[in-house]
Amino acid sequence: MATAVARLAEAGCDTPRLDAELLLADALGVDRAQLFLRDRDADPPPGFAERLGRRAAREPVAYITGSRGFRRIELQVDRRVLIPRPDTETLVEAALELPHRARVHDVGTGSGAVALALKDERPDLAVSASDASPDAVAVARENAARLGLDVPVEHARGLPPGEYDLVVANLPYVREDEWDGLAPEIRLYEPREALVAGADGLDAIRELIAAAPGRTAVALEHAPDQAAAIRALLHEARTLQDLSGRDRVTSGTVR
Ligand SMILES: C[S@@+](CC[C@H](N)C(=O)[O-])C[C@H]1O[C@@H](n2cnc3c(N)ncnc32)[C@H](O)[C@@H]1O
Repeated sequence: MATAVARLAEAGCDTPRLDAELLLADALGVDRAQLFLRDRDADPPPGFAERLGRRAAREPVAYITGSRGFRRIELQVDRRVLIPRPDTETLVEAALELPHRARVHDVGTGSGAVALALKDERPDLAVSASDASPDAVAVARENAARLGLDVPVEHARGLPPGEYDLVVANLPYVREDEWDGLAPEIRLYEPREALVAGADGLDAIRELIAAAPGRTAVALEHAPDQAAAIRALLHEARTLQDLSGRDRVTSGTVR
């Protein structure tokens, strides 16, 4: 294990011990917590060297293991979709207090993270989802079926026609000029079209707001420095902070 940790540290991974443990647990088919029961001097299991090589090439752990935890659910992920981020849990929280049986639509659902976590925590809500990427639609549908969550997912750019009490969206919001400076885990492996949205990062969000019917209630994830610009696009806007206290989700109604 020490050699594996050193190799990942040398490759520039931020959390080499955690990553090596997650990959070892995955190769063994056990939880990370069960690793302490294992003989520290045991030979590495088959498949560990291959996983380690991929991580040393800076592939994200979630793509190597094929799964990522998000709130109470485990999502299957691969390079067709963005890996769900802890910051996005704030978007789920923005919808948790909706009235009984409210209708929620998740635009740009990716792996299905927001829509599926919401349906898992509030089964009474009528949750639907969509994405402009056919690949993402396929992954979200697979996750919905595997988790047994009744969330229809359709292929659409922007908001599909329908009656919604709240539209939630974690659309791309990275600026074009930020891309080259992003970590190799993102730049080399995650879909660019899931992340980048024009010169100021607001193209996809502006397009959604411009096309949505007046008075549609929305909750939108964004970068901390985009909060004021998004509040200016909405009526009765307010911004929620993420787990690190940064402005992360702005909700309001379309003018
Ligand atoms: C930042 S990812 C977020 C994925 C997921 N919501 C999450 O939080 O993990 C953005 C997603 O929006 C989709 N997307 C990009 N532009 C879109 C548009 N105009 N309409 C619908 N979906 C879009 C991308 O395909 C991608 O899956």
